[in-house]
Amino acid sequence: MRKLYSSIRGTCDFSPLQASSFYSITHRTREIFRIFGYQEIILPLLEEAGVFIRGVGKNTDIVEKQLFGVARRQGEAKSDVVLRPEGTAQVVRYYLQNSLYKQSSFHKFFYIGPMFRGERPQKGRLRQFHHIGAEAIGSDSIYLDAELISLALHILDEVGVAKKELRINTLGCSSDKEKFSKELQKIFASKKGKLCQDCQKRAALNPLRILDCKQAQCRKLIESLHLGEARVCAQCKRQFHDLLSLLSALNIQYIYEPYLVRGLDYYTHSVFEITSKELGSQDALGAGGRYNSLIKELGGPDVAAAGFALGIERILLALGELKHPETIRAFIAVADSTLMPDALAILQKIRAKGISSEMDYCDRSLKAQLRYAQKLGARFVVIVGQEEAKDNCVTLKDMEESFQEKLSLDQAIAKIHNRGGN
Ligand code: HAM
Repeated sequence: MRKLYSSIRGTCDFSPLQASSFYSITHRTREIFRIFGYQEIILPLLEEAGVFIRGVGKNTDIVEKQLFGVARRQGEAKSDVVLRPEGTAQVVRYYLQNSLYKQSSFHKFFYIGPMFRGERPQKGRLRQFHHIGAEAIGSDSIYLDAELISLALHILDEVGVAKKELRINTLGCSSDKEKFSKELQKIFASKKGKLCQDCQKRAALNPLRILDCKQAQCRKLIESLHLGEARVCAQCKRQFHDLLSLLSALNIQYIYEPYLVRGLDYYTHSVFEITSKELGSQDALGAGGRYNSLIKELGGPDVAAAGFALGIERILLALGELKHPETIRAFIAVADSTLMPDALAILQKIRAKGISSEMDYCDRSLKAQLRYAQKLGARFVVIVGQEEAKDNCVTLKDMEESFQEKLSLDQAIAKIHNRGGN
């Protein structure tokens, strides 16, 4: 018996129905980005590991546990080339490699494509998934933060995700983050035993991450600490309150989430997540925030930036049952197989008009062809018989109105074109 292969755990195949939804989401999204003034970039799936080690942070889960290394040559064990786990650090690499700050002080980019993380797969958590990402580089204005948040929500609205919640927090500036990290290190040093295993390691290396750990024992400890937003400096606090007022003025509802930290180290100031109750434990449809130190961290000038990414597979999960993709509009049926050349010529003529159409390639009887046309959802069947071929015409059958008539091919095409329906 030959082995039957299955897809790799944590990857997913898109059926025609899912692929059709995928493309209608990305098609609508591209149009929205155009309206908001973002330009599309397409960057490689392969990237040097250092971009993420330095960009995302060496003590983050993404870098510590989830990078997929790619051997450059067969048999090579170790490699500094990885499949990209996210887009932000990569976009900054692109921005710096091309010295884009010399061309203009402000850039807005978007990208749509696959990301890879060696996570433990579960519902909504994959090893290969797709991001719709936006990055705006060159401004620390809270108006830009507000634009990005409203853009992310607008995309979700437009692709049909009605129910969602925006959760937002501020991490303060780099020195606020550093001070708070040290404070937390001290607090957790004496309470390590009360933390989950992952957080026991984080206590020394990345204590901020403990704040949004989902484990019950960690949640209990964190809530008992009553940390609030007092940890950020007066200026950052004012900035954050101004951003919240801006969101209210835009009629955007939010939930202030003082323990929202995010799993990537580059964030400073505002961070946000958009969640959906439809998703279960992996409830984030998308997330983002400011990363004012990342460009400098990756060797560039001191330039502020912010962005977000939405997960397409999670959007599809939130949409639930998918609508059937567009069906075939016309089917060319032949009364006997000697008429196949005529059918093919007719099919070509109809397709040239941009009408989705199909014919039989499996030697079915006329009756079976009509049944097959119905299965495909065809509104019209163009029947080609000996008599029609002799009279240089076709029989056009309207499946919806159970009506048929003999017409010239041009008349039939005009009717297929004009009559309402699918
Ligand atoms: P992230 O939170 O890691 O952020 O990913 C953004 C979104 O991608 C998540 O909210 C989720 O919808 C989806 N996602 C993440 N991991 C998985 C997975 N394993 N399986 C399925 N979906 C997943 C970032 O990556 C940042 N680069 C976002 C950003 C852009 N911040 C600023 N600019």
